[in-house]
Parts: sequence; structure tokens; C-alpha cells
Amino acid sequence: MQLNERIPNNVDLSGNKRLLRALEHWQPAYLDWWRDMGPQGFQDQHQVYLRTAVSVDAAGWAHFDYVKLPDYRWGIFLAEPTPDRRIGFGDFKGQAVWQEVPGEFRNPLRRLIVLQGDTEPASVEQQRMLGAHCPSLYDLRNLFQVNVEEGRHLWAMVYLLHSYFGRDGREEAEALLERRSGNSDSPRMLEAFNEPIDTWLDFFAFTMFTDRDGKSQLLSLSESSLDPLSRTTRFMLTEEAHHMFVGETGISRILERTCQLMKEAGFSEDVRKLGGIEIALVQKFVNFWFSQSLDLHGGEVSSNAANYFANGLKGRAEEDKHDDDHVLNGNVYLLDLLDESGRVDRQEVPMRNALNEVLRDWYVGDCQAGVDRWNKRVLEAHGISDRIYLPSRKFNRGIGVYAGRHFDPWGQPLSSEEWERRKHEWLPVPADKDYLRSIQAVPVFKPGQFANYIAPPQRGINRQPLDFEYVRTEA
Ligand SMILES: [Fe+2]
Ligand SMILES: [Fe+2]
Repeated sequence: MQLNERIPNNVDLSGNKRLLRALEHWQPAYLDWWRDMGPQGFQDQHQVYLRTAVSVDAAGWAHFDYVKLPDYRWGIFLAEPTPDRRIGFGDFKGQAVWQEVPGEFRNPLRRLIVLQGDTEPASVEQQRMLGAHCPSLYDLRNLFQVNVEEGRHLWAMVYLLHSYFGRDGREEAEALLERRSGNSDSPRMLEAFNEPIDTWLDFFAFTMFTDRDGKSQLLSLSESSLDPLSRTTRFMLTEEAHHMFVGETGISRILERTCQLMKEAGFSEDVRKLGGIEIALVQKFVNFWFSQSLDLHGGEVSSNAANYFANGLKGRAEEDKHDDDHVLNGNVYLLDLLDESGRVDRQEVPMRNALNEVLRDWYVGDCQAGVDRWNKRVLEAHGISDRIYLPSRKFNRGIGVYAGRHFDPWGQPLSSEEWERRKHEWLPVPADKDYLRSIQAVPVFKPGQFANYIAPPQRGINRQPLDFEYVRTEA
């Protein structure tokens, strides 16, 4: 079988011998990485009911079948080109988009692609041990769907590196398989992607909040003047939506079950004695992964962000929904900075320099909509007065003006001593993790059954019933 048949694609791989050779060289290293660092314990004897993209049209991108994980057909897909597409923002606004990388923007574009690419295998590495503790076959299948698609997103970025960045691109593509999440010698590039994801509550909070950072980054890259980058990221967004669905519904189902258990316990909040996850513990994981994901958007004031925008490399999310000239010369943003004593000091910043914060605003709004749905559809519907909330964007930050200072989840400043004394109220501690590990210790592999701490979903995948065998052991 030819490689170009094994790699589904709409980029005419068979007509581009140089690219084909480069990917032919990279593919075995990718498969080695997948076996080593992909889902542990499910590589050889399991068939998973997965969606595989075989083309970008509606019929082709959601093809479902059983597949062994290492045999998944990781493909290369770009969204269809927009005829006569023009640069939509920045100093080159109105000019034709680029089909090749302009020499002067080669380094920053490579940097943006490598940063995005690094997150994809990182999350697979972070999640590799979860399968053995799954709450159901439905959830196990969703975990693997997310994992194979993150693998495909890595392929997408590697395609760009190999196609447009020559030797440097090839070296970067190799390095993407060499760094390891959480490894102190060779860590992944961004902090949230070095944190362990060893409980299913971590996994759901990660796919809710950190995959959503992926969505904001992909939306801003899909505005790029580099048309192949725009088209690649536009197709990735269609897959990303499922990852956030997994996160949002995962937490929603945990809350649903928690409400049921609270009622059983006579409206007691102590659902641990019934094996549930109390709302306050869910809130801690929201606090942790939301604040980590805020950091991924970068510093509040950034000359890099300004240059990316000016040069048309990276726009705002949903650029055409912004009601301004899309050039942003002379516009200002009111930003809460801190003075020397740590007091909030609102200052006018040139808009282009505040674009990380503008993207963070979009992100926070998108997260808030999901949190509102949990509150309305689950907590309120059950008549329970507790609510999940997003912590202040000052809380638990490691990057930007609030890094190195302490705030409570409502944005009130704290001394270091107060923070040390009280942080366990707001962030997961080892005992919380131990508890979650104890309730997920025994995996649920029986079709149609769900762990005690999580409610079943409302419907199955691809209209299959809930007791469908989403993952089966090979006879
Ligand atoms: Fe991804
Ligand atoms: Fe994702």
C-alpha cells in the first residue's frame, strides 16, 4: 500500500514527492511515539468505535467505524479555500492572502505553528493512563477520540512545517516527538501541558477549559494571512468542538449525579459517603484548570501580540465580528495593571499591545456560557442553591501582571501567609486527588454501565444506544 493511501488527505500528497518523502520519514517516528506515549493498555487488543476524517465535506469528516488505535488513519485536511480571500486585519489588510511564507515572517510563523503543535501530543501524553480507570465504555471511547484527534492535529502542524519551512521545519517536526509532558529535562513548551491529568475530573476540566484555549488560539490562527495555516486550523476547529463537548457534558454529568446523591443523602452536601463528588470539589478543579488556561493566553501587554496582528500572522477570534477598522492603529484598551504596591491601577494601553487580553476576554466569555449552562440545566433544575463560578482572572496566575502575587477567587489581594493558609480551600490538594483515585480505581467496562459518581449521557455517539459496545476486546 502506498503511503498516500494510508494517509487520507486533500492536499494532493501523491502529486508532491518531496513532501511525501518527508512525511514517509516522519511517520514511523510518530507511530513509535504513539505506542510509547499514547493510551496505555489499549493499543493492541482493543477495537474502538471512532470517527475518522476521510474528507472535509459533511459526509466525509465524520466517518464512524471500529479501529485499532495504532491503525487509526491520521490524515491531513485543509478546509476548502475561500476564493479571492483577502487579508482581514493589520497593516496588510485588503491585500491577497499568502500561499507561501514571506521570508521576513518565517521565524514568527514557525514559532506560532510549533507552539500550537506542541500542545497536541502533550495532551495525549498527559491523558495516557486514564483508560484503565474509565467510568464507562462511552467515556473510554470519547477519551480515545480526543486522543487520536490531538494526534491528527499534530499531523496538521507537521504538514505545515514540512511543506513551508524546509530543513528547520523538519527539525521542528522531529522535536515535537521528542519533548515529553512533565519531563524536567525536555518538557512541553507550555505549563498547563506539563500538569498531570490522572483523574477523570481533571480530564473533563481540561477538555472544558484547556481545549477551549485551543479553540481561541485556533480561531485567531484561522484569521491568518498565511492561507494554508488558516485552512488547516479551520478544519481543526470542527474536531475541537467535540473535545469541549466531552468536557462540558462530563462535568455536567458529574454534577447531575452529585445532585441526585445530595437528595439521597437528605440534602446533605457530604456526598462522599455515597461515593459522589461534592460540588466544592468540582469547583476546585474549575479553579485550577481555568487559571492554568488563562496563562496560556500570555501576558496582558505583549509586543509579540502587537507584531503578530500588525503583520497579519494572527488575528482576533472571529475578527469579522469586531465592529472596528481591523487595523487598530490609535485604539486603546483599558487594562487593570498593578502599581508598585500591588494595587490595581487601570491604564490605557495601545490596543495592539493588549490583544492577548482581548483574546482572553473572548475565552472567558465562552467559558462563562458553559458554566451558566451547568448552573441552569443541572443545579438550578435540581433546586440546589450552590453555583459553579469562574474565579477572578487574577487568581492563581503564573504569567502576566498578576503572577507572583496572591488573590482569592474573587480577586481580593492576599498576603503570602494568607494564601498559604487558605489555598487548599480553592485548589485541589493531594487528599482530593486520593479520593478521586479511590472512586475511579475500578474501571467500568460493561456496556451501558456507568461509575457511581457520574450520570449517563443523554444520548450515545453517532445515534448508537448507551449500551453500545463503544470499545471491544478483540476475539
Ligand atoms: Fe488539538
Ligand atoms: Fe483538543
